[in-house]
Amino acid sequence: MKREQWKSELGFLMAAVGSAIGLGNIWRFSYMAYSYGGGAFLIPYLTALLTAGIPLLILEFAIGHERIGSAPLAYAKIKKNWEWLGWWAVTFVMFGIVLYYVVIIAWCLNYLLLSFNLGWGNDPNNFFFKKFLLLSSTPSQIGEIRTPIFFSLILIWVINWTIVYRGVRKGIELANKIFMPMLFVLTAILVFWSVNLDGASIGIKAYLTPDFSKLSNPKVWIDAYSQIFFTLSLGFGIMIAYASYLPERSDISKNAILTAFINSGYSLFAGFAVFSVLGFMAQAQSKPISEVVSQSIGLAFVAYPKALSLMPGGNLFGAIFFFCLVVAGISSSVSIIEAFTSAMVDKFALKRKPLVTTIIILGFLGSIIFTTQAGLLWLDIVDHFLTNYGLVVVGIAECILAGWLFNIFILQRHINRVSSLKMGRLWVVLIKYFVPLMLLIMLTGALKAEFSKPYGGYSWAAISLIGINWIILTVLVAVVFALRPWRTENLKKGGRGHKDK
Ligand code: ALA
Repeated sequence: MKREQWKSELGFLMAAVGSAIGLGNIWRFSYMAYSYGGGAFLIPYLTALLTAGIPLLILEFAIGHERIGSAPLAYAKIKKNWEWLGWWAVTFVMFGIVLYYVVIIAWCLNYLLLSFNLGWGNDPNNFFFKKFLLLSSTPSQIGEIRTPIFFSLILIWVINWTIVYRGVRKGIELANKIFMPMLFVLTAILVFWSVNLDGASIGIKAYLTPDFSKLSNPKVWIDAYSQIFFTLSLGFGIMIAYASYLPERSDISKNAILTAFINSGYSLFAGFAVFSVLGFMAQAQSKPISEVVSQSIGLAFVAYPKALSLMPGGNLFGAIFFFCLVVAGISSSVSIIEAFTSAMVDKFALKRKPLVTTIIILGFLGSIIFTTQAGLLWLDIVDHFLTNYGLVVVGIAECILAGWLFNIFILQRHINRVSSLKMGRLWVVLIKYFVPLMLLIMLTGALKAEFSKPYGGYSWAAISLIGINWIILTVLVAVVFALRPWRTENLKKGGRGHKDK
């Protein structure tokens, strides 16, 4: 079977940017920036981007492009017995991260509709937790499925299915070529609208005023690295699969750098809209800004709705804001589904259309748990374990695999043969030593915190039954996939690097 290819390099860039820009860019970044010292947070954030984000993105593009395969195939072509790692990455993102990610997109869709008549009423906090989620007090109290969320979830899965089913070129590439420009224009409208609101400057000041004292806290640095990891979709297996669809002559390093800068630029830009609105609210309620900023989920579903109710034209602003979240979210969720689809096609030669339909149905069934009354609690636990351990472990392993178990110079020569921006010794040193070391420090820090007290105040039972089991189960599934015999000749085909000698 001939490997699918992007129609153009611009199409690939849009898809990679679409994967990178997601739910995390809009409020996770803004909240982190605020709580970690405003403008000063840019120092760890940009350091993480330059020292780990960009080098790893170039590495993932190079692995996919040079080895010509999705994560399991590309890893197996590097070292046969590391195939399971690729399966693990695509499995825990497909049957983990994306399952709750689509539910958050579904909430955004609900809120998009609620925006029209500011349906959250006078007390958005009470509305979100008590009426919309009907949140239970512990993860074991599953309760009922929340019907409004369930129905928007169906719609979100159908949209994902429509896009991924149509394939790389006619589905993903086309969708991103429409979604990305639309997202940029709508975000620009929100930014220009919000910076002109009364009190906007209070928010912008809080966003940008540097508080350097916060930088001495190691957690700031750890979180900056983990934010870069999540936001660039590193360790997901996505960027490897996406790069494998590039034609022979494709500028890998230039596209990686463009993807990284567009993604971070978008976060910085969208931050102005988030903080101007918070500044407006602080002024309207005569409260200090610190009282109106709330944590990640609360920022979008509690603080923002509150501000929208106070703002002239808040319903239209809200509709655009939640629409942006839906668009940014879907362009990321399709990339996750594609990473898994691509892996199955590469190994088992399955027909794309029935395969995608099956994956979507399984994904839909798996995501239902997150629409129950305990949904937010499950989401919080699963997200904590998969992003803090799954992605980071894959990142470390990727560096060891490429830097130590493989001849990294094959990848380096390959990048330099096809790209306009050449990678020198610094890149090799970063991949072999610096990035794995940083990630290892992150991992150790996270593990230490883990053992000192159960995450988020949940019971140890909930943590192990939901969080730890999710990791164990996905590893088992990955091993099973890796042990199955290859139904294609893909593994026997070499990489593109032989032409470099
Ligand atoms: N990169 C995607 C995000 O930031 C997953 O949401």
